[in-house]
Amino acid sequence: MKIFLDTANVDEIRRANSWGVLSGVTTNPSLVLKEKRSYEEVIKEIASIVDGSISAEVISSQYDEMIKEAHRLASLSDKIAVKIPMSEEGLRATHALSRDGIKVNVTLIFSFNQALLAALAGATYVSPFVGRLDDIGNPGMDVVRTSAEVFRSYGFRTEIIAASIRHPVHVMEAAMAGAHIATVPFKVLEQMLHHPLTDIGIKRFEEDSRHIPKS
Ligand code: E4P
Repeated sequence: MKIFLDTANVDEIRRANSWGVLSGVTTNPSLVLKEKRSYEEVIKEIASIVDGSISAEVISSQYDEMIKEAHRLASLSDKIAVKIPMSEEGLRATHALSRDGIKVNVTLIFSFNQALLAALAGATYVSPFVGRLDDIGNPGMDVVRTSAEVFRSYGFRTEIIAASIRHPVHVMEAAMAGAHIATVPFKVLEQMLHHPLTDIGIKRFEEDSRHIPKS
């Protein structure tokens, strides 16, 4: 399973990218808003840092506008996958854009059937929102698991991005459920890196090494 970083913050992206674990970045309008910079400026800077897929979301929900925005975003870098919301207009846009060779990440997926329709329409990626489903008492990982099993048995090429990841256990469960990718906030990536016993072990080895007799 690959890891994408779910952020529009370039400092976090630079840091995580230096660890050699990133295969891409996903953003959304709420994440870009936090940066207080222009949309295109942020996306272009992310593309200059990361060697992998970068998801940039359209803001419009109308077909014609989505298509225009998608072409503009895709022209920023060949790394861009355009994020299109799951809706009737979104499916039409996914179909048209994928026929034009533009990669589409269908976002706001909350059921297997939505994932199936998005894949059939030509999506390169589908993004089930695990955490937001968990929040309303529906096990979000079930959508990832069912989609992964069906996509595998029918030979679909669409990749599943487990999104709306809230903690490290979600990442492990996404891998076990067959997600191709988990897109994780920087805080979760940091949590994945640490273990209290590792930190205690490093400290003890450092202390002990100071008492080793010099030759
Ligand atoms: C990524 O593609 C999604 O936009 C993101 O994971 C949503 O996460 P949230 O539910 O924490 O906002």
